[in-house]
Amino acid sequence: MKTLTLIAVLFFTTCAQVFAQQQPIPSLVGKGTSTQLIVHGKPYLLLGGELGNSTASDPAALRQYWKRFQELNLNTILVPVYWELIEPEEGKFDFSLLDTVLVNARKYKLKVILLWFGAWKNSMSCYVPGWVKKDDERFPRARTKEGRSQEILTAFSRANLESDKKAFLALMEYLKKADSKHHTVIMVQVENEIGSIPDARDYHPLAETAFQAPVPSELLKRLQELRENKTLSTHIDTLWRTSGYKTYGTWKEIFGENVYTDELFMAWYYATYVEELAQAGKAVYALPMFVNAALPRLGRKPGQYPGAGPLPHLMEVWQTAAPHIDMLSPDIYFPDFERWCTLYTQRENPLFIPEARNSHEAAANVFYAIGHAHALGFSPFAIEHVDPQNGRLAQAYSILAQLTPVILEHKGKPTMDAVLLTKDHPVDTISFGEYTMVASYEPNDPYARKPLEEDAKGACLVIQLSTDEFLVAGSGVILTFHSNVASKPNAGILSIDEGRYEKGKWISGRRLNGDESHQGRHTRLPYFEFKIHNVKLYQYH
Ligand code: DGJ
Repeated sequence: MKTLTLIAVLFFTTCAQVFAQQQPIPSLVGKGTSTQLIVHGKPYLLLGGELGNSTASDPAALRQYWKRFQELNLNTILVPVYWELIEPEEGKFDFSLLDTVLVNARKYKLKVILLWFGAWKNSMSCYVPGWVKKDDERFPRARTKEGRSQEILTAFSRANLESDKKAFLALMEYLKKADSKHHTVIMVQVENEIGSIPDARDYHPLAETAFQAPVPSELLKRLQELRENKTLSTHIDTLWRTSGYKTYGTWKEIFGENVYTDELFMAWYYATYVEELAQAGKAVYALPMFVNAALPRLGRKPGQYPGAGPLPHLMEVWQTAAPHIDMLSPDIYFPDFERWCTLYTQRENPLFIPEARNSHEAAANVFYAIGHAHALGFSPFAIEHVDPQNGRLAQAYSILAQLTPVILEHKGKPTMDAVLLTKDHPVDTISFGEYTMVASYEPNDPYARKPLEEDAKGACLVIQLSTDEFLVAGSGVILTFHSNVASKPNAGILSIDEGRYEKGKWISGRRLNGDESHQGRHTRLPYFEFKIHNVKLYQYH
């Protein structure tokens, strides 16, 4: 009997090991008009949260939050890896902080995205090790126009790049060893919010030499192709036009002498730097990799904002210089959330939002990002400070987690859309074949338990299941339905059922054909709770 048990245990352990070894590495694949993240061989919807900068530097500080991440219904956390803490002494690596993250993430059934706080973190070099900071001869700094050295490593030094790359590769090698059977870590962000400040460009002598050199032909070739296809951005076209579209010369000769040329130049060299890390990192362990951007305020110029990062007006440059970077990702803290989503879905860029304000609006924005912009995922910043009980995010994520299989099926197709409404943008419409839906902002919840936030947002995601059947999910929105069929110009509601998904199966709850739908005139998603409705429509003359 004992022998049988032993054989059975050995058999199942071997099967589990073989299964684990066969698990494909996370990847990105195109789906319809969007991109799908694949984890353990299956599409994955990333309901994330990014840790505040310092929490992961101390396991004791992080320990108290693991349960909270579950209560918030997250499936992924974004966690910094600090160069100074993994390589406190040159060439001696310590991954114990990362081990704690991996062990706990597995225990709490979470996936992890690592943020490489290497040479740059929000333009600065605050996370480079002390031995780098203190050796400014070996590791040169960026300089201002006046020649003042900054606490910023210059992107033009081989020594800076090599040391950063060595540490990054040590991380990727460690990940391969420690995690390739689990795939707890599903993506890696390379550096953090790269940008040039306080000037639009670096004036270190090495940077000067590059600035006086010809613009790389690889970039000009790509810009020419884009121009021929009429897909060159107006921004770059305007700069280039000043030289009559010259195809050989220095940055100044080709794009003119101004801060935007400086920015273009820096973008190219930041991107080629990052490309070298990503390419080498993927050769070790090919996880999807991305870079994130600090977005500029309207009306500011490069240098006044951290210039040259992976910004929408520099996409052509970043995409050309860094083909091993899979996406350019916006950190959206501004209120015009929709605009940034649109800008970051240009040029086939897969949308992922690694940072966003963690206020109540996050709970609405995530519906828009996923439902309208077909994002891979969303992740508010400083997630450990979000209260699962009082905040709206836990509810929103719960609904989205239930809907995940349906969302992933409809991702990249015209059968999924969403609206985001505020008091200043109170009405929007979306259409699905034979029906048009008018969405109105409805913050007045008849069952309101607390006053509405000043900048409350309503959000509603709609998925068309068949010609006449829709899933409607969100909060703070009233939807009315209209027929697009001339012979039957009216749309009626057959039924509205609220309900939930359990393990991908729809469980119907209350039928809402009375007061809750104003006797069949509309469907209403109350502001103070997130709901899913199954709505069946019909048309009549
Ligand atoms: C954006 C950065 O990427 C984060 O690391 C953090 O500094 C936040 N800003 C703070 O708002």
